[in-house]
Amino acid sequence: MKKIGIMTTGGDCSGLNSAIYHITRGATKRGWAVYGIIDGTDGLVATKPVVLQLDAHSIPPEMAPIAGSVLRNGNTGQNNSFERAVQMGRLPQFTKQLKKALAEINLDAIVLIGGNGSISLAWATRDIYSDLQLVCIPKTIDMDIPLTEKTIGFDTAVQQLTRFCDDLMLTARSHHRWFVVQSMGRKCGMLALTAGIAGGARAILIPEIKFDVDNLIKHIKHSDTDYGIIMVAEGVTLRGHSGEPATMISRKLTAAGISNRTAFPEHMQRAGITVPTDRILAAQMADAALNAIENNETYVMTALENGEITTVGLDAVVTSGHPDRDPNIDGLIISNAMVDLDNPLLIAADNMGIYIGETK
Ligand code: F6P
Repeated sequence: MKKIGIMTTGGDCSGLNSAIYHITRGATKRGWAVYGIIDGTDGLVATKPVVLQLDAHSIPPEMAPIAGSVLRNGNTGQNNSFERAVQMGRLPQFTKQLKKALAEINLDAIVLIGGNGSISLAWATRDIYSDLQLVCIPKTIDMDIPLTEKTIGFDTAVQQLTRFCDDLMLTARSHHRWFVVQSMGRKCGMLALTAGIAGGARAILIPEIKFDVDNLIKHIKHSDTDYGIIMVAEGVTLRGHSGEPATMISRKLTAAGISNRTAFPEHMQRAGITVPTDRILAAQMADAALNAIENNETYVMTALENGEITTVGLDAVVTSGHPDRDPNIDGLIISNAMVDLDNPLLIAADNMGIYIGETK
């Protein structure tokens, strides 16, 4: 009988509970013991780590689709977080403590449901997990994890952001004005691009493509409506300006005589009842993670590749994307997936007359 642990780390998103639900049920069916680690790695190094034994009934089916994580995700501001350990130069002690905590629980495997920060960190500190199997499941609204075509939480975030745009569109029409909507997504524009198309945006600005303010203004002035949505990903920058990109763009539009307001959906993009496609992905990835444990795989991540669920090595994940500095952990290099210029959605948006920046 195997003894496995589950933890959720990094920013939450909708779909985490679906994944926990399916891992718990699938593992229980195999006769394995399942432990839920509260607050991820932060929780493990707490004075009194909370590790709960889970069974098939711990998460009732009606709870599986709710957002957030029943296991919680830790608190980056606390002293027992990786971030603080790095800031205080206590990383060696921290990792030793983490390894000791894991040895005390005596797990055979751990399923880490995390984003690219957590996955890169797990790989960078992989010695912590050398006495057990480490299997990661990719989750994030940002869709910035390399080597997987989908991450848990993305589709629900698209739904949340699209609904936000649908609602704004009506008040935009009433007042003959534009809304500059700023999406989340860090350095990746996939959420802005996808929800921008779904929400009927007339312009979508993403960090991967430079844009020209004058051309954006021209595009909006020549639009066949005097209202609408301009979607701006949070990672967009404007030369010579600092601050929120939506605010900067809004000021430029106002100066050009275009009536507009900014709108920030913020963490609502991480909320909402998990959409069916995320629930299904969570079930498939939970199953793949349990199969990987059964097959004695370690240091792997479940992934969607050419429509099939598989596993890929963490070494490949952390070297396949665009290297970037982790925003929370000094010195940690993370690997980002980004929107390629030949992305079919991007091409379709361009062909539909949506301003997507200066691609030529
Ligand atoms: O990575 C998920 C994400 O929601 C990003 O899109 C966003 O930039 C960030 O996390 C927000 O982090 P916090 O919850 O710490 O404000």
